[in-house]
Amino acid sequence: MTSEWILAIDQGTTNTKALLVDATGRVHHQASVPNVVTYPQPGWAEQSATALFDGVKAVIAEVVANAGNATIAGIGISNQRESILIWDAATGEPIGPVVIWQCRRSALICDALRAAGHADAIEAKTGLALDPLFPAAKIAWLLDNIPGARARAEKGELRAGTVDAWLLWNLTGGAVHATDHSNASRTQLFNTEALTWDAGLCALFGVPQNMLAEVKSSDTHFGVTAQGVTALPAGTPILAMIGDSHAALFGHGVRIPGTVKATYGTGTSLMALTPKRVRSTHGISSTIAWSQQGNVQHALEGNISVSGQTASFAAELLGLADAAALSDLAETVPDSNGVAFVPALVGLGAPYWRADARGTITGLSLGTKPAHLARAALEAIAFQVGDVYSAMEADMGAPLGELRADGGASRNPLLMQFQSDILGRPVASAAAPEVSALGAAALAFSALGIAMPGVPAAGHFAPQMEATEALKHRQRWQSAVTQTLAISNQQTSGGNP
Ligand code: G3P
Repeated sequence: MTSEWILAIDQGTTNTKALLVDATGRVHHQASVPNVVTYPQPGWAEQSATALFDGVKAVIAEVVANAGNATIAGIGISNQRESILIWDAATGEPIGPVVIWQCRRSALICDALRAAGHADAIEAKTGLALDPLFPAAKIAWLLDNIPGARARAEKGELRAGTVDAWLLWNLTGGAVHATDHSNASRTQLFNTEALTWDAGLCALFGVPQNMLAEVKSSDTHFGVTAQGVTALPAGTPILAMIGDSHAALFGHGVRIPGTVKATYGTGTSLMALTPKRVRSTHGISSTIAWSQQGNVQHALEGNISVSGQTASFAAELLGLADAAALSDLAETVPDSNGVAFVPALVGLGAPYWRADARGTITGLSLGTKPAHLARAALEAIAFQVGDVYSAMEADMGAPLGELRADGGASRNPLLMQFQSDILGRPVASAAAPEVSALGAAALAFSALGIAMPGVPAAGHFAPQMEATEALKHRQRWQSAVTQTLAISNQQTSGGNP
């Protein structure tokens, strides 16, 4: 067994973390700093690129200070995806903010492309429905709204990159501008069949291709740290880069199709490997999970907008302290007494894709107690995951197996048991909270030819509910979703504002 450690960086929206991990997956030291998100206008969301890299430097300094004499063999990076920035190629100075994944400022660009009939071709090439979530339209917005940017980009003076590329550029002292297949596949400029930046898409979105990073295998030797940039010695190799949701799937140890992972965060991302590139016909994205030694592994992904956040939202409505108090209250009743809560608080994501939908509570009666509402809120998390899981099964044309769960709400046994019950599948919740960072570490170890084990399961949940009972629950939920969408349709066609 090697005594070498990997320094795993998980650059997320809310926090930046660093972990020192050995080849058994044991975490020896870790550090975390919070990040600031600003919302300059309704629907906009951005971060400071320099602040993000300062955070990375801070967490590296903290873990390196605790590393003693251990050898840090290299770095693995997992990162928030779809967030994009542009910087000056000569000075490395950002010319604007990081326009993060949540930001909708480029919605009009997407609307115009849709109106011109390009949505289907864009999805066919990228696997992604045309949406301002993705960097393509965000880069176009930055080029059109930062004075002089477009002209400078056309002269080759600017670089665009997702957060992995920005960190790599800085770690290497401006020597390397590269990204990996998983991050490239989320930009809506990368042709996931041809495995190249797509000249037609670049032209359509108005993004000069010379701004974009070189796309490499997720387990490549991307470059080495420059002298004096961080607390790491010069020459430390960056061995892996991968988007955080993809890293979580890798961290669970999933390497073949059949198993789905769900990260229960604010929202939830479900991802499952596919034997080949699949074009979803059920409201799911097709994406690249990762590449190893140049071999690309495709996946399906479904994103739920409001998932774990449903519990804290409902807790506040019910005057409870937090999501844990909501779960305690939910546990005092055996079921929701017919109540369903559809948490379409910012619309509904996969597999419905209805940005205009808003939340509803159905099935209220004189017998409804706060505990039933609490239970309905928890159940909504599981039902939404169930919808995406079923859509993935329909796309795959074959039953899927165990669900691997991670993220905050995966530590709630009541929720995990209900999840297993309504799916009729086993659910295994991860023992460690940092599955994305551990996935990046595992990928970096794999670049060294070392197989780090997946994060083990702490909880195992087997279906206990009768199939007919589970079906009734899911029908109740489906009926509530149908009512929710009907209300939105009515409002769109001239009803209430
Ligand atoms: O797709 C966006 C996702 O990668 C953001 O992840 O962990 O920063 O919320 P996180």
